[in-house]
Amino acid sequence: MPTAELHIDGKVIELPVIEGSEGERAIDIQNLRSETGLITMDPGYANTGSCESSITFINGEEGILQYRGYPIEELAENCTFLEVSYLLIHGELPTEVELDGFTNSILHHTMIHEDFRLLFRALPKDAHPMAACSAMVSALATFYPDSLDPRDPREVEVSIHRLLAKLPTIASYAYKHSVGQPFMYPDNNLSYVGNFLRLMFANPCEEFEVDPVVEKAIDLLLILHADHEQNCSASTVRIVGSSHVNMFASISAGINALWGPRHGGANQEVIEMLSAIADEGISGKEFVDRAKSRDDTSRLMGFGHRVYKNFDPRARIIKKACYDVLDRLGVNSRLLEIAVEIEQLALSDDYFVERNLYPNVDFYSGVIYTAIGTPENMFTANFAIGRLPGWIAQWREMHEHKHKIGRPRQVYTGETRRKVPQLSDR
Ligand code: SDX
Repeated sequence: MPTAELHIDGKVIELPVIEGSEGERAIDIQNLRSETGLITMDPGYANTGSCESSITFINGEEGILQYRGYPIEELAENCTFLEVSYLLIHGELPTEVELDGFTNSILHHTMIHEDFRLLFRALPKDAHPMAACSAMVSALATFYPDSLDPRDPREVEVSIHRLLAKLPTIASYAYKHSVGQPFMYPDNNLSYVGNFLRLMFANPCEEFEVDPVVEKAIDLLLILHADHEQNCSASTVRIVGSSHVNMFASISAGINALWGPRHGGANQEVIEMLSAIADEGISGKEFVDRAKSRDDTSRLMGFGHRVYKNFDPRARIIKKACYDVLDRLGVNSRLLEIAVEIEQLALSDDYFVERNLYPNVDFYSGVIYTAIGTPENMFTANFAIGRLPGWIAQWREMHEHKHKIGRPRQVYTGETRRKVPQLSDR
């Protein structure tokens, strides 16, 4: 086993170097503190591996994304979201029989307990769908006490199917509540995505036809969002799950992490940014110049990535899908024109080039969501539905291996020991 030498306090410590199947290498510091008394410091964990994983591989320098070894481009071209969900969770693409069983089980668990209607009714009309989704996913643990044990494979399997089946229903109810429309019941005769579209856009007063163009576009977007290594929300699901709380609570925590504008919430921010440019007549150049200020508030949303220092392959696929979907829907999108203009300006601007800032998965996704009628405040909930199988796969992989509770260290920089003064002396 290759090693790295650490010279400290006149001692030489040998630390093992581990290598992954794609040639990534890491210094294993599990014994660092016991051997040296030191810890490492890496705010944001940009240089720190939390686990070995066989689910997803990203090569940020070359813009490569693979789920269980399959390139994202091939999965997007040849599979459905449920096939990819099965692949992420079970490690192999399903056979026809396996896919039928998986699909059938999920499509027949899409209803949620009627009492959820009472919970939704109690929420303010303007409750953000991500707040509703995390609350209701957490509440699933109260309705299903029979499937909470993270160490029981059967209970885990039941929870997996319940979550995959019910999150679209929960998300659609969050939307219906916000617009004062009645909740629709799932239709088990439709596809997974077709059912979600009907839950979102149908109403009891008229027939609803699933548009195959829209169905395929959403299925593609869900595939592209399905997993992404140890991103903020996946790491949240792992660390919350490492306390051995149930899967529902772990996924609810992941939903909350995804909501943040630096993470999945960026897709809503991008459309708000493009709409502001369109509505206020701001020039793309003015907006790009504003984005170069060093504060978080005027960043170019949908640009930049902790890992991709080249094009995010998902952004490339979604950008192509924008043209395809808009063309087939006969929609001209000013937002798409602005997004392409902004991208061209940024990719020829030294500030962005020097910092390797390229469009990420969130930059173009909102253009499609807008074109097919998804309300802006539902963009991130759509991201959560896509990311759910990835979160589940990460949580399950952690539980399938020996793991410790996640508990980082710190370097204390506060007051050293001192005596408590009496109140009269303060
Ligand atoms: C997702 O991790 C994942 O895999 C996430 C994700 C997934 O699938 O799970 O891919 C999904 O979250 C995509 C990212 C969506 N977020 C956004 O689009 C928000 C805008 N982008 C950023 O805030 C930022 O780029 C991050 C959060 C995505 C990455 O931040 P990093 O890696 O911590 O980089 P940083 O904040 O340290 O920025 C490095 C430099 C800084 O400038 P300097 O201090 O060197 O002068 O780049 C600048 C930043 O100011 N910068 C930007 C910018 N992003 C970074 N400047 C302008 N606009 C931006 N978007």
